[in-house]
Amino acid sequence: MTGTTMHSTRASRGSRVSRWGLRVACLATVLLVTACNDSNTPKPPEPTQPPKPKTSMIPSLVTNAMAADAPAAASAPAASAATSAASAPAASASEPAAKASSATVAPTSAPASQAPSELITRGKYLARAADCAACHTSADGAPFAGGVPLKSPFGTFYGTNITPDKTNGIGGWTADEFYRALHDGVAPDKVLYPAMPYTSYRQMTRADSDAIYAYLMSVKPAAVPNRKHDLSFPYNMRFAMRAWDWMFLKDTLPDASKGQSADWLRGRYLANALGHCAECHTPRGTFGQLDKAKPLGGAALARIAAPDLTPDALAARGWTVKDLQTFFGTGIAPQGSAFGEMYPVVHLSTQYLTGDDLRALSTYLLGDAPPAPKPLPEHPDTSKLMAGRNLYLAVCAGCHAADGTGKPHVAVSMLGNSTVRQKDPRNLIVTILDGVEAQKFPGLEAMQDMPGFDRRLTDAQISELSNYLRVAYGGQAGDVNSEIVKQLRQK
Ligand code: HEC
Ligand code: HEC
Ligand code: HEC
Repeated sequence: MTGTTMHSTRASRGSRVSRWGLRVACLATVLLVTACNDSNTPKPPEPTQPPKPKTSMIPSLVTNAMAADAPAAASAPAASAATSAASAPAASASEPAAKASSATVAPTSAPASQAPSELITRGKYLARAADCAACHTSADGAPFAGGVPLKSPFGTFYGTNITPDKTNGIGGWTADEFYRALHDGVAPDKVLYPAMPYTSYRQMTRADSDAIYAYLMSVKPAAVPNRKHDLSFPYNMRFAMRAWDWMFLKDTLPDASKGQSADWLRGRYLANALGHCAECHTPRGTFGQLDKAKPLGGAALARIAAPDLTPDALAARGWTVKDLQTFFGTGIAPQGSAFGEMYPVVHLSTQYLTGDDLRALSTYLLGDAPPAPKPLPEHPDTSKLMAGRNLYLAVCAGCHAADGTGKPHVAVSMLGNSTVRQKDPRNLIVTILDGVEAQKFPGLEAMQDMPGFDRRLTDAQISELSNYLRVAYGGQAGDVNSEIVKQLRQK
């Protein structure tokens, strides 16, 4: 049900839930709301440690792939934030942040200057780890001033102004109110839509919420009014979200990997509470809630799918802890580059993680006992795939090299590329159809753009090409047919 209207944006989230099914569900929730009252909102005890992962649906989750450059003054402080932020989350709950919070209630225009600078630095680091900018900083706007369009099947949400501006932002909020927004999805004046991923942030410690609060209170107030969400009936009925919360906010999501080391625990907190990886990488059930049976099992977004991140699936595509660290830290690994909705995740968020946190996140994904990366077949039989091979040499090899190993600063390797190694050919085909925009990577690395071939190649040619790549470079079966290409072209 990802209509053609979404084609133009990578920012939209697909949903397998039918519009009517949701309407019915939504109306049912409205009835529920009327039947019950405010006490519906769950009020679990405040955690002193990150609780077990809790997730639930985001009817609309989306990132604005275009959220462009993060707030200025990017690089330097990440390293200094390292020491404090890298410590295990359990410890952070007892840090002075919790006490500082009551002192940062915002009486004047710049209350945060009262917060100690280490707290602000830590908050900045955490805000990046949680990728607040993806939805709250627009490409051409001031940091955290909002206005980022987030397309969804229900209409367009706009990320709000979360600068300390009193009128348009959250300058009048207390640290308690801020924590409640992150934890319960409830603002002082309204119930929030789960387009704001409080379903994941719910697991954030109070101390970390307070640090982010202190940081946001220290950024420049921007007098930018919020844009009204453009939602269709019945989704424009904000109060119905209370019933949705009541039904889904309690959901828990089991871990995708096994572990108990300090790295694994820290990685769990980074992935689940801050990075909200599950919101894109976990498939959804009938009501759009995350499927508890398949944590991080992969999910189709609007166009590019978020791949399966379970340990066996990662190992089958050749990933190791070390290569994942490189991928999250730089956006490029031997297995390929981050693109589509994953690019802003690296660009705005994971590239700023400390080495310790990169290792922790990667350890969490693969588990304390990572499965061995699967080798590629040594002599793949491509004798029946000559048409695909010729196409590859004619249109792709100029950038990706005749032997598929790519060219430094030009294009990534196809040999062993994790997109080529996916069982599901979707991302491979969509990349050939749409191309990849020019992207900047940390350091001075940049790649030119890859053109889309939707006009230049027929469905049959794209399927021949895909089959050649899958067999020659990906250890996959050559089982793509033009029907699959045709369907993806029309999406
Ligand atoms: C995936 C997109 C997304 C991300 C990531 C995100 N937000 Fe939001 N946020 C939203 C949207 C959309 C709204 C508006 C929701 C509504 O109107 O109900 C919102 C609302 C809010 C509000 C309420 C503001 C108001 O004026 O009522 C606060 C506070 C907030 N976000 C803080 C944060 C912080 C802090 C982070 C990072 C830890 C963050 N958000 C990350 C999308 C996001
Ligand atoms: C003009 C150079 C160029 C041409 C021609 C080109 N590509 Fe690419 N391709 C790139 C670049 C650059 C990237 C990485 C983009 C980025 O992440 O910024 C890329 C990425 C990809 C990816 C995604 C994998 C990843 O890890 O990023 C696939 C798959 C791919 N190309 C396949 C092909 C195929 C098949 C063809 C021929 C139909 C082709 N490319 C032609 C430059 C090119
Ligand atoms: C807004 C949606 C979104 C979020 C949030 C997100 N991802 Fe992704 N991710 C994607 C998409 C789409 C791809 C496929 C494109 C690519 O490979 O770069 C991807 C690719 C990846 C890959 C490469 C897999 C492969 O084999 O090619 C890894 C690893 C990954 N994500 C990990 C994470 C982690 C860890 C987080 C949380 C910190 C996260 N992602 C958050 C959408 C998302």
